[in-house]
This record gives sequence, C-alpha cells and structure tokens, in this order.
Amino acid sequence: MKRIAPSILSADFGRLKEEVQAVERAGADYIHMDVMDGHFVPNITIGPVVVEAVRKVAKIPLDVHLMIEKPERYIPDFARAGADILAVHVETCPHLHRTVTLIREHSVKPAVVINPSTPVSFLTQILEEVDMVLIMSVNPGFGGQKFIPGAMKKIQTLKQMITDRKLALDIEVDGGITPENVASVCKAGADVIVAGSAVFHTPDYRKTIAKFRKAMEGC
Ligand code: DX5
Ligand code: ZN
Repeated sequence: MKRIAPSILSADFGRLKEEVQAVERAGADYIHMDVMDGHFVPNITIGPVVVEAVRKVAKIPLDVHLMIEKPERYIPDFARAGADILAVHVETCPHLHRTVTLIREHSVKPAVVINPSTPVSFLTQILEEVDMVLIMSVNPGFGGQKFIPGAMKKIQTLKQMITDRKLALDIEVDGGITPENVASVCKAGADVIVAGSAVFHTPDYRKTIAKFRKAMEGC
C-alpha cells in the first residue's frame, strides 16, 4: 500500500499537537519531521526535544529526515526521542555504512537520502542495509518549492535496481508533491509520498489526503 507522510514543516507550530493529531485522524501513515541545522541546509528547524514532544501525541510512526552535518553525533538522541525512521543524507556521511549501522543498533529503521544533484548510483553499495531510500525532488531546506522533473527518472532507476536485486525497501519522495503530480510520482515507483504545503496549507486535511489517495489508485 502506498503511504502518505505529511511534513509538519508547513504546519502551524504554535498548534503542533492539534496539527499532528489532525493529519493522523485525516489518514496520514507517517509524520514526516524535517531537522535542519543551518549548515547543511540554509534553514534551521527542530531537534530531538520536538521529536520527543510529537512522539507523546502521535500514534503513527515518526519519519525523521536529518538535514544536518555529522548526523552520526545525534543518532542516539533522536532514537531516544522516539524516531521510528531516521534518514541521513549521503552527502553528509563519508562513512555511510557506519552511520546506517549505528541507526540500526539503536533499533531505528535506517533510510538514506539523495539530493537532486546526487545520482542514484551513489546508493549501489548501501541498498542492502537500509529500509528506505528518500529521493529529494527539491533542494532541501524549505517547504513549498516546485518539483524538479529530473527526480522522476531517478525514482524509475532506483525502482529497477530494487526489483533486479529482489530487495524489499521502500522508495520515499520528498518535495513539491501535490494531488496533481502524485500519480506520476507513484507510477515511477514511489511507495511513500511526503507532502508539506500541499496538505497543511489546505483547510480540510481529510479531503486533501483522500485526494492524494484517489490520485494514486491503481498505480
Ligand atoms: C524540504 C523538506 C520537505 C518539505 C516538503 O527540505 O525535506 O519535507 O517539508 O515540503 P513541500 O511538500 O511543501 O514541498
Ligand atoms: Zn523532508
């Protein structure tokens, strides 16, 4: 089943508990949380304390996307805070295998992320070790950007690699996804769809998530 992960980056942080519970009630499968450090990406957002707070009010898994330098330093903190999935960027990890192993040692599902300019071939040696690959379809740092079309081919290439090697991992796609373009993202091979502004900037989350699901029917 295709899954939807609303990104709370576009939520009203003053009402975070209500926002999280509202998307959960509206049918979200994961809560996507964007951690940014002002170094790897130009923006600064949240850390483990917010993940811990959301863990207390959410029932569904927390999908935590780390856009930070030296993410290995913070794996124990995010694991303790209650992350279910921890995604690290290959661009930030010279010892990616070690970092992925560290995530698994903390009983969290490891995922790896690639930026729009990073080729899928950078993943060949790590695919067996992860539960999910996240393909960025915008340059990370901000919500509300436009989908970069080059991501589509990368999703297809990765899907083919996974099928050829008979692996079971998920493909997640993040950035610029809307009910209008989600069908093609899904057909290309995505299993998990991240959507921030396309969910939180609408008045009725249930209707919006239903729109996403309808668009993905049969893909
Ligand atoms: C961008 C973040 C995304 C962001 C997506 O760096 O990783 O998760 O919230 O926002 P939209 O769906 O608005 O492009
Ligand atoms: Zn994200």
